[in-house]
Amino acid sequence: MRRLNARTRLNSKSKLMDPIKLHIRSNARSGLFARNPKTGTHSSCLIFASVLIALAFLLSYAFFSGKSSPDAARIKFGIVIDGGSTGTRIHVFKYRLEGGNNAVFDFGKDGLVSMRVNPGLSSLAEDSHGAGQSLLKLLEFGKSKIPMESWKDTEIRLMATAGLRLLQENVQQRILESCRRVLRSSGFKFRDEWASVITGSDEGVYAWVVANYALGTLGGDPLRTTGIIELGGASAQVTFVSTEEFPAEFLRAVRLGNTTYNLYSNSFLHFGLNAAHDSLREALITGDFNLATQSLQKGLPIDPCSPKGYSRNVESQKISPSSTNNENRYQSTLQSRGNFSECRSAALMLLQKGKEKCSYQHCDMGSTFIPRLQGKFLATENFFYTSKFFELGPSAFLSELMTAGQEFCEEDWSNLKKKYQSNDEEDLLRYCFSSAYSVALLHDSLGVALNDERVKVAKQVGSIPLDWALGAFILQSTADASHGLYLGGGSLN
Ligand SMILES: *[C@@H]1O[C@H](CO)[C@@H](O)[C@H](O)[C@H]1NC(C)=O
Ligand SMILES: *[C@@H]1O[C@H](CO)[C@@H](O)[C@H](O)[C@H]1NC(C)=O
Repeated sequence: MRRLNARTRLNSKSKLMDPIKLHIRSNARSGLFARNPKTGTHSSCLIFASVLIALAFLLSYAFFSGKSSPDAARIKFGIVIDGGSTGTRIHVFKYRLEGGNNAVFDFGKDGLVSMRVNPGLSSLAEDSHGAGQSLLKLLEFGKSKIPMESWKDTEIRLMATAGLRLLQENVQQRILESCRRVLRSSGFKFRDEWASVITGSDEGVYAWVVANYALGTLGGDPLRTTGIIELGGASAQVTFVSTEEFPAEFLRAVRLGNTTYNLYSNSFLHFGLNAAHDSLREALITGDFNLATQSLQKGLPIDPCSPKGYSRNVESQKISPSSTNNENRYQSTLQSRGNFSECRSAALMLLQKGKEKCSYQHCDMGSTFIPRLQGKFLATENFFYTSKFFELGPSAFLSELMTAGQEFCEEDWSNLKKKYQSNDEEDLLRYCFSSAYSVALLHDSLGVALNDERVKVAKQVGSIPLDWALGAFILQSTADASHGLYLGGGSLN
């Protein structure tokens, strides 16, 4: 259930927007970086940048075709390495600087190429040397895409997300340091602080930037922008313009021209699809859940999110709070008995974990406040892959997803394997949970109506992939182009 690598050519319709000033700042209160309280790690030091950027958003079909004077335009390259929880991906961007240092992007196949390696950096926690080594193939790819004379001017940044955020601070640092060693000698332009773990809220803002850039709504009326609900592997992000009052700790203000976008942006660590699925298994095995059927049933715990007939031993590790180093591993088996509505209830229980500690007017996911959703939304990443698997249309997909999920969850595993022979078993198994979890999150938690046309699933807009790394690159390169300032986002230590 991962995004594909394919990039398609930009369509010939060129978008021309006035140069706009771009200014991102975090809110004055320091809550911005003080997230993931659950892991107990802390972000002690913030790079806190306030930048004014002149930026022309100009997508032109004629970009690389030589119609514009080659003297006036300087071709530049940039690299962003996205250290995700399940894989590491390099994005190589080719762009143009025009007269007034305006960056002109092309996210078509001439302007952006990507490559991915598995597994992610976070799975190399035991082998931090391996973390750096895992970048070598990606660097080789980068070098094959950029003329040698441009290497030393090409900035390379590594931004790691939730997979690393979940690890302890010292382990994060070991992994980053191993990557830095490799990046320093890569031949590209690199500074140590360019390899960092970015916050989930940054990730949300970057995703929002690229989506609204692609939609042509950056620079315009805040109320006409589109919000983003991302369901990643380890975390989920919700980012949108809200006119409601909400606690300042969730505020990210993005200034474009004379317009300020007051974004609610928050990342929900552990609420990504894979993390939630793991928590579910853990909770079922340890009996943390009190599912209706569970209490009546003696014997093996029942897993309502795996189709019946599926069986495997689950190795669970329970870490007792008093002795964090003492892992108590044990084998256990779950009895698979797929049932969509029970799986959805279980998913909702996960989503409401911690609600009893709610310190806001209301808590929508875990113990966290989310304002009422406003305007249009794109539901991305695993929402998209789930919807694609079930071959649903982009709009009003929730009601269809319920029907499809129900059918899938309650089918025999042997029949499903026959029907979906080309799918990896572990992947296939997830779709019952992912359909139920999507409904529990969007409908039961965020209040999206089942037939709401304003919420669409998407992976790209036009030919522009909705990948936060593109948003990060847009902000980064425009910052560099005009003022040479580092646009922070990462918490650097
Ligand atoms: C932004 O504000 C300035 C100063 O008030 C004004 O001169 C300029 O025309 C405004 N720009 C836009 C795009 O509205
Ligand atoms: C699924 O669970 C619900 C609630 O426990 C129950 O009413 C329903 O009959 C179950 N469906 C199947 C197909 O077992």
